[in-house]
Amino acid sequence: MSTDLFDDLPPVVSRETLAPGAVLLRGFAREEGAALLQAIAEVTRQSPFRHLVTPGGYTMSVAMSNCGALGWVSDRSGYRYDALDPLSGQPWPAMPAILRGLAVRAAAQAGFADFEPDACLVNRYEPGARLSLHQDRDEQDLSAPIVSVSLGLPAVFLFGSTSRSDKPQRHRLAHGDVVVWGGPSRLAFHGVAPLADGEHVLLGRQRINLTFRCAG
Ligand code: SIN
Ligand code: FE2
Repeated sequence: MSTDLFDDLPPVVSRETLAPGAVLLRGFAREEGAALLQAIAEVTRQSPFRHLVTPGGYTMSVAMSNCGALGWVSDRSGYRYDALDPLSGQPWPAMPAILRGLAVRAAAQAGFADFEPDACLVNRYEPGARLSLHQDRDEQDLSAPIVSVSLGLPAVFLFGSTSRSDKPQRHRLAHGDVVVWGGPSRLAFHGVAPLADGEHVLLGRQRINLTFRCAG
């Protein structure tokens, strides 16, 4: 299916299966995009974006924040979920109802009923930022899917199999697109190619991605 056909059309949801258990819902969040961004701005006012350091000592090009009961963090000692924002020592901001509601509806649409996320990682990409291939495997409950919402500048999402050596497929993700992966794809390797420069009407030179997880 061609991806660019949808860009100039009003919000229409199309559903593409990327792999067993992995679904791309194009435009699913587009109508709510501005309201989602407002809620995210309130989250990042309380817990600002920061560039985390990996256990190997590499500073990530993607800037991160979190909302919900648990937040994903990385430092020299490893990756983990933590109830407190290490910058403030305070709990992460609560997950705004508009974010949570969207994630639950997207999961249901993709065939995962009763999704109850307790963590939402907020990723900010500026031109050139990238996320290398990885698995999301720090969560307790691997029976729950990952729900990923893309806002702002388009990106190339790399989606592979559960084997690192398989060459990933490339999917263009635009503002409002949602990807859900779970079941046999829950531990699929995925990443984001270096963000191309551009100007988005709501976000300028940025892409924001939300990933909702059942972490605890
Ligand atoms: C992630 O893997 O946490 C983020 C994926 C994305 O930015 O699309
Ligand atoms: Fe991930």
